[in-house]
Parts: sequence; structure tokens; C-alpha cells
Amino acid sequence: MQELSWWQHAVIYEIYPRSFQDSDGDGVGDLNGILRRLDYLALLGVDAIWVSPIYPSPMADFGYDVADYCGIHPLFGSMEDFDRLLKEAHGRGLKVILDFVPNHTSDQHPWFLESRSSRNHPKRDWYIWRNEPNNWLSNFGGPAWEYDEATGQYYLHSFLKQQPDLNWRNPAVKAAMFDVLRFWLRKGVDGFRVDVMWMMIKDDQFRDNPPNPGYRMGQPSFMRLLPVYSSDRPEIHDLVAEMRAVVDEFGERVLIGEIYLPVPKLMAYYGVDLRGANLPFNFHLLQCAWSAQEVGKVIADYQAALPAGAWPNWVLGNHDNARIATRIGARQARVAAMLLLTLPGTITMYYGEELGMCNVPIPPDQVKDTFEKIEPGLGLGRDPERTPMPWDGSPTGGFTTGWPWLPLGDEHEIVNVAQMEREDNSIMQLYRNLIQTRQTYRTLVSGKLAGVHAENHVLRYERSGHGQRLLVVLNMAPEPAQVAISGSGTVLISTQLDREGSEVRGPIDLRAAEGLVVRME
Ligand code: NOJ
Repeated sequence: MQELSWWQHAVIYEIYPRSFQDSDGDGVGDLNGILRRLDYLALLGVDAIWVSPIYPSPMADFGYDVADYCGIHPLFGSMEDFDRLLKEAHGRGLKVILDFVPNHTSDQHPWFLESRSSRNHPKRDWYIWRNEPNNWLSNFGGPAWEYDEATGQYYLHSFLKQQPDLNWRNPAVKAAMFDVLRFWLRKGVDGFRVDVMWMMIKDDQFRDNPPNPGYRMGQPSFMRLLPVYSSDRPEIHDLVAEMRAVVDEFGERVLIGEIYLPVPKLMAYYGVDLRGANLPFNFHLLQCAWSAQEVGKVIADYQAALPAGAWPNWVLGNHDNARIATRIGARQARVAAMLLLTLPGTITMYYGEELGMCNVPIPPDQVKDTFEKIEPGLGLGRDPERTPMPWDGSPTGGFTTGWPWLPLGDEHEIVNVAQMEREDNSIMQLYRNLIQTRQTYRTLVSGKLAGVHAENHVLRYERSGHGQRLLVVLNMAPEPAQVAISGSGTVLISTQLDREGSEVRGPIDLRAAEGLVVRME
């Protein structure tokens, strides 16, 4: 068996830096705050942190509008703070992954200021300018083209108008952006999560997108059209391969692509001969209905479609989607944890998932996310899943000594780290135990996955290899269930954390919303 790369057996922990830990009382999380919590992360057992954008930014999209790719926003700290964080993380065996936002810059980025200054400026073609708009829509609502009075042309923005799209067909853009990667890689950063990787190249003829016959009222207005010509263009794969080659110049680093596409299209992002993204993010668990049948189907379809040698990965939540505990409820959140940490490949979790943290309802006058402001009332705003990490039950949750930028919600009086530290069977302990089990039983990372089967609301599968055979059974219903097994085994871990070491043979009785990992004889 070949040695795995660090990122192959990693559990990656996404930190939304505004909301993890504030260190200076301004109500917004920062790098020194993350530094203070590294021991917490090491104890949780994760292998890497992915930090959402920390670069200078006007914050129209909370950092996904970058004004300087090689700097640190003063709100988050300084470059010295970053260097210290990187060193301290590495000292604890934690890798550090940064967010790379290549599709667009901020409209305040010097490149765009130059580009919009005149039609003849050498950087004009760094962005996408047209005399006439086509019908493309912004992901955040409204047209994707903004008219620029001064120069009498339209520029493309797939997101906010403060986020103009870069022209990746221009070799100078490519060279400048690849140097950005090198800047951070030279510092010792362990890899990148690439924002909207599948959208970076657009149709060279700017053809209109066709209408979406499946569009329903209440969906984001962007979905009125099928983004056939504005995303997932064939040329993207060469570009991703080039990006990967840059990352590979520095040895064992990782390139992760944010890609929301159906499984067959997603798989293409591994690239020809696997020279594309190391990990095209697999968001399919995040989008499917929570039933044994549906989840079983997602797992089976994904595994069947993986190209030979491609490394799988799984995600349950991130800063753009409702939190898993809100989607499926507190009890099933424990089942989801067991599912996530017993699937093959690389695992990415979102901060607060280990607490069973829920979305926090945001009163209209406290909304921060522009998406909610542009298309209000449809539940599109992402503030609810971006609220501060509750470290304790105090009014500001130990997150800040000031006024938190988003409310913590009432639930944090019970759902917080300090409280879960006191309970032997909290979901946080469950996460710790599952991560530990994954480290002990490498079969869970790289063993074979077989026997995916759903019956009577119970999902089951087996992980085998390294001379071990582990059976996973997950009761996805609010009633008890019974599952037949042949042979006998020992419970390694139960979602309730109270059956470890017990022998099972014959049919296993599962309590409501209980999952087990059983080591078979
Ligand atoms: C995807 C990011 O995850 C999201 O938060 C952001 O708003 C868009 N890309 C635009 O960068």
C-alpha cells in the first residue's frame, strides 16, 4: 500500500475568520484569535485548517472581493500575525490552506481601477469588457453586466457588481495570479481552496444562456437561466491543470476546487491523468434529502463515478449553506457526524459542526450578507450559518469582549464548547472520538467501501482493508430499528457514546437516530 499524502488522510476544518475568535474586541474574529484556538483544534484532532479570505477587501462579499491578493486585511491582523499563525499551526502538526479567489477581484483592486480608467489601458483586457451585454445573470441577482459611464462599455460580474470577473484568457492575468499562488506557497502555505473553480472561463463567443425550464418561483433569480455558456466551459480543464502544476512546484501541497456540478461533470475536474484538482469538492451530501435511500444513492453514485486513482472527499457544510443540524435536527446531526467520518478519502468540516451548531435567525435590521439584501425573504442570505463560534455560555460566548458582528443566538447558552467539555457524551466528544477512530483505523480513510445498502431507514456499508472489516449502520429515523448482521463483532463507537466495547451478534437493535461502527470478527 502506497503511503498517503497528508491531505489524503486529512480532516480539514473550515474557519470563517470573521466568526471564529476575536482577539481585539472589535467584534470580528481575527488571526490572533485563531492562534489562541489552535490547541482546541489540535485536541479536536483535525489535520488542517482552511481559512476563508483574510486579504485586504472592501468586504462587499466579506472578503470574497479581494483588493490585494498578497496582503492581510487589518481587521484580521498583519502579515506578521499570519506568519506566526502558520508557524504555530505547523508546530502542532496542523496544515494551513488558504482561500484563493481567482474568478473576480474587488472593484477596488488596483488592476480593476487601471482597467476601467480607459479603453486603451494595457490592463483593459484583464477584465471582461463588452459593448453590448448578453443575457447572463449575476449569481446574486440581476444582470451580470454593469455599464461603466466613463468608458461606455459593460464589464462582467458573475457575483456582485463590486466583484468584476478577471479575464483568464489573458496570459498576463494568468501569470500574475499564478505568482500570487507562489507568494503564499513560498511562505509555506499547504494549499488552496479555489473559489468557484468551474466558473473561471466563459464562452469565447458570449452566447446567451438558455432558459431553465425547471425554474420555480422562490428560487434565486439566477436560476432562471441555465449557465451553459457562463460556466463549466471545456477550456477550464487546461487552466486547472496549469494551476495544479504551479502548486506542484512546491511538493506536497493540495489544490481543492469549489465546484457545484452534477457528479459526472464534477469528476472531470480531477483532470486528464489526474492532473487537475487534487480534490474537486464533493457537495452532494450537502444537497441531498436526508434519508437512508438518498444518502446511500449519493455515496454509491459518487464512488462508481470516481475516475481510477482519483481520491474521494466529503463535505456536510460550509459558509454558503444551511448548517447540517438545522437541516436535519440535533439528533440526526450525530448520525451525520458518523457518516462523514466513516466515508473514504478527505473530510472537510465546517466550524461549529462539532457542536451541532444551528443556523441563527437574523432579524432584518441586522442582516449583513448582500445576497439577502438583493433578494430578501427567500432564505438566500448566508448570515445564519456564519454566526460567531460559541466558546462558552456568556452573553458574547467568549467570542469577543466587544459587540459581535452577527448575533450568537439564544441557543449558545447550551450549545457551546465549555458546556460540551463538561459532558461525556456531547456531540463534540463524539466528533473527537470519531476523528480519533479514523486515525486508529486507517481502513476508514483508505479501505474499500462496499455493501452500501438502505433498508427500513437504516443505511449500512462496510469498510475493509488493512486486515480489518468495519461495519457502519446508521439509523436515519426517529424510531428504533433492527438490522440483521451475519457474524459477530465489537462496537467501536456509538453515536450515543455508551456502547463501546459491547459484543454484537445476530440482529442489532439500534435506538432512534443511533449509528454504530462495529469491528467485525
Ligand atoms: C463562493 C464563496 O464560497 C461565496 O461565499 C462567495 O460569495 C462566492 N463564491 C463569490 O466569491
